[in-house]
Amino acid sequence: MKKAVRILAVVLSFVLIAGTVLPVSAMAVSEEISWEEYLNEGKGVYIGPGADDTEMYVTWYGGKDGVTPCVKVSEKADMSDAETFEGTIHTGYKVDRSNHVTVTGLEKGKTYYYVCCDGTTDTEVKSFKTVAEGADFSAIYVSDVHITGNSFEDETIRDTSKVWSEVLTEATAREDISLILSGGDQATEGQLYEYYGLFYPQQVKTIPFAMAQGNHDVKRYTYDAVANYPNAKLTGLSKSLIHGDYYFTKGDALFLVLDSTNSSATDHYFFVKNAVKANPDAKWRIMMFHHDLYGGHIESRESENMLLRLLFTPIIDRFQVDLVLTGHSHCFSRSHVIYRNEITENLAGKTSVTDPKGTIYLNNGSLKMNADSQPQAPIIDSDRKSEYIATDYLAFDTPIYNILSFEENSLTIKSYTYGAETPFTELTINKTTQQGGHPDKPTQLWFVIGKYIGTIYNIINNISRQGEIADRG
Ligand SMILES: [Fe+2]
Ligand SMILES: [Fe+2]
Repeated sequence: MKKAVRILAVVLSFVLIAGTVLPVSAMAVSEEISWEEYLNEGKGVYIGPGADDTEMYVTWYGGKDGVTPCVKVSEKADMSDAETFEGTIHTGYKVDRSNHVTVTGLEKGKTYYYVCCDGTTDTEVKSFKTVAEGADFSAIYVSDVHITGNSFEDETIRDTSKVWSEVLTEATAREDISLILSGGDQATEGQLYEYYGLFYPQQVKTIPFAMAQGNHDVKRYTYDAVANYPNAKLTGLSKSLIHGDYYFTKGDALFLVLDSTNSSATDHYFFVKNAVKANPDAKWRIMMFHHDLYGGHIESRESENMLLRLLFTPIIDRFQVDLVLTGHSHCFSRSHVIYRNEITENLAGKTSVTDPKGTIYLNNGSLKMNADSQPQAPIIDSDRKSEYIATDYLAFDTPIYNILSFEENSLTIKSYTYGAETPFTELTINKTTQQGGHPDKPTQLWFVIGKYIGTIYNIINNISRQGEIADRG
């Protein structure tokens, strides 16, 4: 497969050259429960963002045969005057039942309470908040959570789930968080019990949790049954093996979540085009997908990264994306301003930029942390980073997360290692107009052909990947 990637990269390069060249809810966050209690409940509830803040998507496992799942929603903690929303049942490999319910008609800027019902015992009352129209808000960005383990009894799965929970507890204590973004590799083997672990933190039941597919999530079909998001692209010239691209808005921002394990650039292009067209007034365009395009930290992946840059950056440039959130390499990096694969503004040593003439790429480190490892000093501004990177931070066995604060004319990214009092780096992007400094040029001619080559490759690649998933069982 790597050989095929190299061949495709060469073909695409040829085409290119030949072309014209109060923390969330104090009540909710403090409601820690033990791992054993969580497994006994066995529902793995999480909430996801709706198309905007008038909706919330609720997902959980299990239920009584023949009973339609529902979510009761009230403005009061005692659940009086609750409204009931019915949903649908989804199944997948080793997933007997995943309940998907969409709550609609919410008012922006309010607190709501909810319970999930499926014919067994109703879940405990939890709360969530919606963001007011155009209001400032903050989001957490993580990637490579890598919940890992071979069974519910496996200590590794409990430990990785607890690290994930502790990181969210620390991050949500810093600021009022309205969204949790995760850039893929949520689970290491894509197994059902790993996703149970992923939904252990109480924060994913009170703050909408948006995930992208990582290459590890695509090892099995479990994610397909548990992913429940709005405006999802589930069909196309070459669809994703599991779930698909989706988008939503929050405050003044449009979030575009892409499946970078799907090389069908044609499908991604039209997905982003339609999403942008449907939300012309969004001030911020944020894209999230799994693969690290520019970090350059892992030499053996550079041919794949070159291919992915050819497939994704023309879309990012054309639709003037402000910030791209990625993961995969497990190495934190933040880029200079990039447009058409060239640095348009050097951000080395800078803490702010105004009207950048292109896009900034933020790659997160992993949340992996091994309790028995010896602490190692981080490496800052390493010699492993590529020329595109303004700063990197290699923290071994230390989780890294980011808090993105959206304000009317600025977006501030603060990056933290778990346990640190202050961010190790931060950057504020200022925009004086909706377009900011983004060039407004049509897509390069070579991409007219290039994006279809990515689609053909994905059609072929899907066949071999389906075989690999079937072999894993
Ligand atoms: Fe990973
Ligand atoms: Fe990965």
